[in-house]
Amino acid sequence: MNVSEAVETRRSIRAFLPDPVPEEVLRRVFVKAARAPSGGNLQPWHVWLLSGAGMARFRAMMAPRIARGLTDAPEYAVYPDRLWEPYRSRRFAVGEAMYARLGIPRGDRAARLRWFARNYDFFGAPAGMFLFVDRGMGAPQWSDLGGYLQTAMLLLREEGLDSCPQEAWYLQHATVSAFLDAPPELMLFCGMAIGRRDPEAAVNGLQAPRAPAEEWLRTVFE
Ligand SMILES: Cc1cc2nc3c(=O)[nH]c(=O)nc-3n(C[C@H](O)[C@H](O)[C@H](O)COP(=O)(O)O)c2cc1C
Repeated sequence: MNVSEAVETRRSIRAFLPDPVPEEVLRRVFVKAARAPSGGNLQPWHVWLLSGAGMARFRAMMAPRIARGLTDAPEYAVYPDRLWEPYRSRRFAVGEAMYARLGIPRGDRAARLRWFARNYDFFGAPAGMFLFVDRGMGAPQWSDLGGYLQTAMLLLREEGLDSCPQEAWYLQHATVSAFLDAPPELMLFCGMAIGRRDPEAAVNGLQAPRAPAEEWLRTVFE
């Protein structure tokens, strides 16, 4: 697989086959992803991998929380307040396209919330990852985390694996940190579901649109 194929075939996968991901593959990918660049070579990522019995213990801890609808007070805002155009419409469009594939109507708030809570089961994936950053770090280091994430997601494609990055964990950060015994100076940025895509699942047919380049690309070539 070349880089373009990895980029083109990566998409956020939200239904997985139960096949386990070999632990050495997980380790290989997330260690190799640290070749991602970072400003000043700070390498500000702190990564936890979950699989096998560790994942089973984590699921057993989470399940009753999810059943009761419990969340933690968020530590960071995923989006700015009152998102503006064109971002607002882009977010709305991908959400509607996803719920249409799931057959969940707009007005069915309970069903949407139930679906959202599937984030906290890693959408049924056999493996998962949590990505933390030192609380003292700022926007440039958070952007380094993005480079790390995408490098890992492309390497997963090379291994025949799929993923979904998940900010949804921002509402479970204290619970996740306590389970992992993460030091208090680290803050949870996101999680990631990892496994093989279920090709039968309608939700995985979603190809999130991209804005035409004219909306965001300017050139100074002459
Ligand atoms: C940092 C980050 C966090 C995300 N968090 C979630 C999430 O919590 N739940 C989810 O279903 N998708 C999540 N996504 C997936 C985005 O919705 C998705 O990347 C976007 O709609 C584009 O679709 P694509 O990844 O299939 O190309 C996240 C993506 C990123 C990069």
